[in-house]
Amino acid sequence: MDKKTVRDVDVTGKRVFVRADLNVPLDDGRITDDTRIRASLPTIVYLLERGASVVLASHLGRPKGKVNDALRLKPVADRLSQLLGRPVRMTGDALGPGVQVAVDKLRPGDLLMLENLRFHAEEEANGEEFSKSLAGLADVYVDDAFGSAHRAHASTEGITHFLPSVAGLLMEREVDALSRLLERPPKPFHAIIGGAKVTGKLEVLEALLSRCQAILVGGGMANTFLAAKGHALGKSLVETDQIDNAQRIMSEARRKRVRFMVPTDVVIAPQIHYRAQTQVVGIDAVPKEMMVVDIGPHTITAYTDHLAKAKTVFWNGPMGVFEVKQFAEGTNAIARFLADQTAKGGITVVGGGDSVAAVEQLGVADRMTHVSTGGGASLEFLEGKTLPGIAALDDCQAAA
Ligand code: 3PG
Repeated sequence: MDKKTVRDVDVTGKRVFVRADLNVPLDDGRITDDTRIRASLPTIVYLLERGASVVLASHLGRPKGKVNDALRLKPVADRLSQLLGRPVRMTGDALGPGVQVAVDKLRPGDLLMLENLRFHAEEEANGEEFSKSLAGLADVYVDDAFGSAHRAHASTEGITHFLPSVAGLLMEREVDALSRLLERPPKPFHAIIGGAKVTGKLEVLEALLSRCQAILVGGGMANTFLAAKGHALGKSLVETDQIDNAQRIMSEARRKRVRFMVPTDVVIAPQIHYRAQTQVVGIDAVPKEMMVVDIGPHTITAYTDHLAKAKTVFWNGPMGVFEVKQFAEGTNAIARFLADQTAKGGITVVGGGDSVAAVEQLGVADRMTHVSTGGGASLEFLEGKTLPGIAALDDCQAAA
């Protein structure tokens, strides 16, 4: 990458503010996927081993500028502490006199974690004073929060105006892996896009139409494309306001000669429930009282046959309601197939929260070329957008 990284600065004896994205899914205070915490370890360990004192900061959820006890970072600090094999001290706030006292006591090799940055409205508002105060806690800023790089917030952008600012090791890995998809990826390059909705995926679909040779869709969003082709889908979620966009994307694909694949058969159920009776039907045979919950076996075969020709694959979004076991086969089959493709030399990049959770659950995450910790950030990156959290870091030639 063309930005300075943590390897370009002397951190020994320095106080380093590390912005990580430790925004992990929680269920009743329990972390259900710790990928982002584990992915943040290399930078933290790198800095501590070199005698830096680390002030670690993150957001968790969307507390909207108010203290919310359910979104305290304590469970994250506990998990981090287990992974590091050392206690992780936390402050009661992200800023304030107590924080300053705790930071002043830090010695080389010490780690201190701040409370949820988003308890302060100034974080998301990118408040200048708030940014300056965060910067006042350290000598160097390290941004390792790739997952938040599309947000111009105080701790991802504002702070860079007041400190030498470099990328962390995770940030570097993410940018390098995703850049590979933008800069001459080995062809054929195919994308599999799933997830619940077309909304939020339109821009990435448009961008991929200019880069890929095939786009395969699944998940709830496939319903909208199927509806746009005139299929009736029972009580499945169809975004009627996106049908025009779906039609536009498909005609754009035809114009650009990009193969655009939609499911030909689907798994249906009367409701989303772990005991629901399922059935496989063709897309023209979804009864009124049923809903689509996964792609069907013919679609899985058609998709994997087509993906077998690809040298590069980007996957974002599950193929069905994979959280429910009997609706997970489409997602799992794609995940297993991509893991095998990687073993045969293919480049497979997985981006986005739910598809990442799927490959983690199946235990195939480390068999992919890269699993991005960014959801929205990885999509915006692939859209070719400038991500403010990356743009704000010092360029390679700039003095740190
Ligand atoms: C994410 O989970 O995508 C990042 O942590 C950013 O969170 P946000 O969408 O609430 O800004």
